[in-house]
Amino acid sequence: MGDKFSLFFFLSPLLLIFSSKALHCSAAADTISAGQSLTANQTIVSKGGDFELGFFTPGKSLKHYLGIWYKKAYAQNRTVIWVANRDQPIIDLSSSELKLLENGNLVILNESKVLIWSTNSTSTASKSLELILGDDGNLVLRDRLNPSVIIWQSFDHLTDTWIPGAKLKYDKSSKRAVKLISWKNSEDPSPGLFSLELTSDSEFVIIWNRSRQYWTSGVWDGQGFSLVPEMRPRFLFNFSFQSNENESYFTYDTYNKSLLSRFVIDLSGQIKQLSWLEQTKMWNLIWSKPLKQCEVYAYCGPFGRCNNAQDSSCQCLQGFKELSLEDWNLGDPSDGCARKTPLQCGNRDSFVQMLNTKLPVNSVPFAADSAANCKSTCLNNWSCNAYAYGSTGCSLWFDALLNMQQLDNGGDELYIRFAPSEVSSSKKKQFIGL
Ligand SMILES: *[C@@H]1O[C@H](CO)[C@@H](O)[C@H](O)[C@H]1NC(C)=O
Ligand SMILES: *[C@@H]1O[C@H](CO)[C@@H](O)[C@H](O)[C@H]1NC(C)=O
Ligand SMILES: *[C@@H]1O[C@H](CO)[C@@H](O)[C@H](O)[C@H]1NC(C)=O
Ligand SMILES: *[C@@H]1O[C@H](CO)[C@@H](O)[C@H](O)[C@H]1NC(C)=O
Ligand SMILES: *[C@@H]1O[C@H](CO)[C@@H](O)[C@H](O)[C@H]1NC(C)=O
Ligand SMILES: *[C@@H]1O[C@H](CO)[C@@H](O)[C@H](O)[C@H]1NC(C)=O
Ligand SMILES: *[C@@H]1O[C@H](CO)[C@@H](O)[C@H](O)[C@H]1NC(C)=O
Ligand SMILES: *[C@@H]1O[C@H](CO)[C@@H](O)[C@H](O)[C@H]1NC(C)=O
Ligand SMILES: *[C@@H]1O[C@H](CO)[C@@H](O)[C@H](O)[C@H]1NC(C)=O
Repeated sequence: MGDKFSLFFFLSPLLLIFSSKALHCSAAADTISAGQSLTANQTIVSKGGDFELGFFTPGKSLKHYLGIWYKKAYAQNRTVIWVANRDQPIIDLSSSELKLLENGNLVILNESKVLIWSTNSTSTASKSLELILGDDGNLVLRDRLNPSVIIWQSFDHLTDTWIPGAKLKYDKSSKRAVKLISWKNSEDPSPGLFSLELTSDSEFVIIWNRSRQYWTSGVWDGQGFSLVPEMRPRFLFNFSFQSNENESYFTYDTYNKSLLSRFVIDLSGQIKQLSWLEQTKMWNLIWSKPLKQCEVYAYCGPFGRCNNAQDSSCQCLQGFKELSLEDWNLGDPSDGCARKTPLQCGNRDSFVQMLNTKLPVNSVPFAADSAANCKSTCLNNWSCNAYAYGSTGCSLWFDALLNMQQLDNGGDELYIRFAPSEVSSSKKKQFIGL
């Protein structure tokens, strides 16, 4: 009896410590307090029940991430709106955790307790710190005793999704914009090729590989953007633009708070606005830009060709094959295609004609007085991949062929260099086809 008693007194402080350190999933709390952590299968849910924070594993990936997703709006897969450790995935989830340290830092530790992600917000040490997932989908770090001061919030670190209440900002002193950056592919949230940004002129632009702009919204006239009539005030959404000496930003709201809506810079390189339809339990596309897949710069990658008329927009040029069929199947053809047969690197190579082509970018002009001269110049330089001879003279391509489009009619003729064996086999195929 006496033994049991002392054992109880020995254990109870330990039990107290352990229960205060770990969250119980069943509680479905919306808050994590200083010193607490969230482990593999635990989540917190916003008060109204729309959003959930926890670890997730996209598709068949073997990597794990901390993210926020819609709890109720579930269409076969989770729709993730925010990812913390985009390019620092967790390999082994078993004893990994999200932890709110008492020094104000929110960290993710992997199974060896190595820090792999941090909010870097160590300015305020307090036992009354809390991390709360709001009904707006914003994850906020603040002090319970002074809740109006936000120490860190996920709305300042958007991933690929813009939801009502979040701001797309341009910071005037640093001249930097908050970017939405697409996922790499449907199972990899690491930063992909496409980003949506706000410019100093208050236009939205979409940029390929952080460098090449291929779409703009046009200017904001106080009501909407000149090139996006779809964003004009309607009965569903309220867009607004604010500007002061430090920043300018766009934000939007839904008039009916129970309507779930999101903007996403998609794997396709398009910006899409969607809303949730409870009847069909699906995301309904309201609009997307650029309208056509082929308007997305270099979407099909090197030696890939975009065709708006086809169901799957990207194809490899004849004689080429997908560099990574796996990536193509995950919605990322950006690695493009490679030759099935290597070039002979000599003048035994020949050329195959491609009609109705929107020519690739990065051509080099050459002063040739005839098509034959243009062709032989290309043939005699082993790094020349293609030539075209048209109204603008002779153009040569030395690098990968990028941003090509197959048109229904019009366009130009492009001549692509092939190894001799590849040309004869394609001729055979054509013959059989006839
Ligand atoms: C769900 O995810 C799987 C694997 O990533 C994918 O094949 C499937 O198309 C997705 N379904 C929907 C509806 O997005
Ligand atoms: C934990 O993180 C460290 C540092 O990034 C890394 O070296 C280690 O491999 C990670 N462990 C696992 C299993 O991911
Ligand atoms: C999480 O849940 C899954 C399925 O319920 C289970 O297989 C797995 O062991 C759990 N992981 C941990 C770390 O508890
Ligand atoms: C925190 O700081 C590290 C090192 O400076 C940096 O790599 C990381 O991106 C920062 N984390 C966030 C969430 O900004
Ligand atoms: C994107 O740019 C980087 C650096 O500028 C370059 O190394 C990379 O190859 C580019 N990616 C593609 C798909 O072209
Ligand atoms: C539209 O949004 C702005 C700023 O978010 C807000 O001040 C205004 O009241 C909203 N208008 C309506 C009709 O909801
Ligand atoms: C702009 O930034 C300065 C310095 O941080 C601050 O004092 C001022 O209140 C800010 N102005 C607005 C409108 O937020
Ligand atoms: C708001 O949307 C919900 C769900 O779509 C609907 O049931 C409700 O009637 C709407 N409320 C108003 C005022 O339109
Ligand atoms: C092929 O063309 C490239 C680009 O114009 C040039 O740098 C290179 O020297 C040429 N090679 C030969 C063998 O002419």
